[in-house]
Amino acid sequence: MTHFTFETTSRPTPADQRKILLEDPKFGRVFTDHMAIIHYSEDKGWHDAKITPRQPLPLDPASTVFHYGQEIFEGMKAYKGRDGKPLLFRPQANAARFAASARRLAMAELPEDLLLDSIRSLLKLDQEWIPTGEGQSLYLRPFMISNEVFLGVKPSHEYLYVLLASPAGAYFSHGCVSVWVTDRYTRAAPGGTGEAKCGGNYASSLVAQMEASANGCDQVLFLDAVEKRYVEEMGGMNIMFVRHDGSVVTPPLNGSILRGVTRDSLLRLGRHMGITMVEEPLVMDEVFAAIEKGDIAEAFACGTAAVVSPIGVFKRESGDVKFGDGNTPGETTMKLRKALESIQRDEAEDPFGWRYRVAL
Ligand code: COI
Repeated sequence: MTHFTFETTSRPTPADQRKILLEDPKFGRVFTDHMAIIHYSEDKGWHDAKITPRQPLPLDPASTVFHYGQEIFEGMKAYKGRDGKPLLFRPQANAARFAASARRLAMAELPEDLLLDSIRSLLKLDQEWIPTGEGQSLYLRPFMISNEVFLGVKPSHEYLYVLLASPAGAYFSHGCVSVWVTDRYTRAAPGGTGEAKCGGNYASSLVAQMEASANGCDQVLFLDAVEKRYVEEMGGMNIMFVRHDGSVVTPPLNGSILRGVTRDSLLRLGRHMGITMVEEPLVMDEVFAAIEKGDIAEAFACGTAAVVSPIGVFKRESGDVKFGDGNTPGETTMKLRKALESIQRDEAEDPFGWRYRVAL
C-alpha cells in the first residue's frame, strides 16, 4: 500500500484572498495551494506518493512526453455535501476510464484506490477551496505523463501522476451554446485514440475549435472520420438531442467517441425519470432537416465541465439551424440538468448510489 506524505506550503493563500477568488473563479484559472504527485518506474511500481505545495514540475527536456505525447487526464468535480464534507460523483467511473486510457496509450495503470487516495489526501489540505455558489464546484484534474529520458519511440518505463484542484464556475458563461459543425476536420478514426482521454485528442481539436470561433461559435462538433456523415462528439463534451416526442437520442459508443461519465449518467437517470433514452447513429444532414421541421426540438452538450449545457444554434458551411430564438434552453434539457445536479449537489435522493463521500 502506497501512503502519502504531506509537505504543506509555507505560503498558504490567506482566507480573505481565497474568499475573493472563490466568488467568481470562472473555469480553469484558479488553483488550490497543493497538488498530489506519485512516481512510477518499472522496477519500483507506483511509489513516492506526496502532497506538496503546487509548483512547477522539474522535467528533463528529453522526457518522452515532450516528444511522443504519452499523456492522459481525467476531469471530475468535488462538491460540499449537506454535512459540509466533500462529495464526489462516480469517481470510480473516472478511475476506470483513466486506466482504460492508460492501456490505450501503453502507459502504466494507476490503481483505483491510489487515485481515490490522492483526492482524499489533497482534500485533507485543500477542502476549504470547494466553492458552494450556484454552478460552482472544485474541478479535479488528475493526469499522467511519461517521463523516461529517452528519444527512442517506445512506451516509457517511467511515469508521473499529478492531481490538481481548481475551483470553478460554469464552463460556459452565457445562456445557450452555439455549435459549429466542421466538414473539414475529424477528431478520431476507427482504431484511433478517440475513446481515450488523452491530450492529443484535444490538441488535434484546437484548429477545428478555431474554425468554430471564426464562425462565431462556442464549440465544434465533429462528424465520423470515415463517411463524414455521422454525429460523433464536440471538442470537449458529448452531445444529445431531444425529439419532439420527448425522447432523447445520442450517438452510440463506437470506439471513437469518449465514454462520458455524464453521458452514461444521463442515459440511466433519464430512463429512471421515464424519458425514452436512445443510443442511435445520427446523420448530420438528417439532424439539420429534423431541426428545421421541428422533429428535433432541443439539443445539449454534456460532460463533467459542461454538465448539461443547452445548444441554441448549429452552423455549418451549408447553412444554419436554430431552436426558436436560438437562446432559450429546452424543457427536457433543463429537467435532466436539474435532476443530475441535484444528485451531484446532495439535494436529492441518489437512486444509483453515485455520490461518494470523501472520508478525510
Ligand atoms: C471535462 O468535462 O472534464 C473535460 O475534460 C472537458 C474539458 C474541459 C477538456
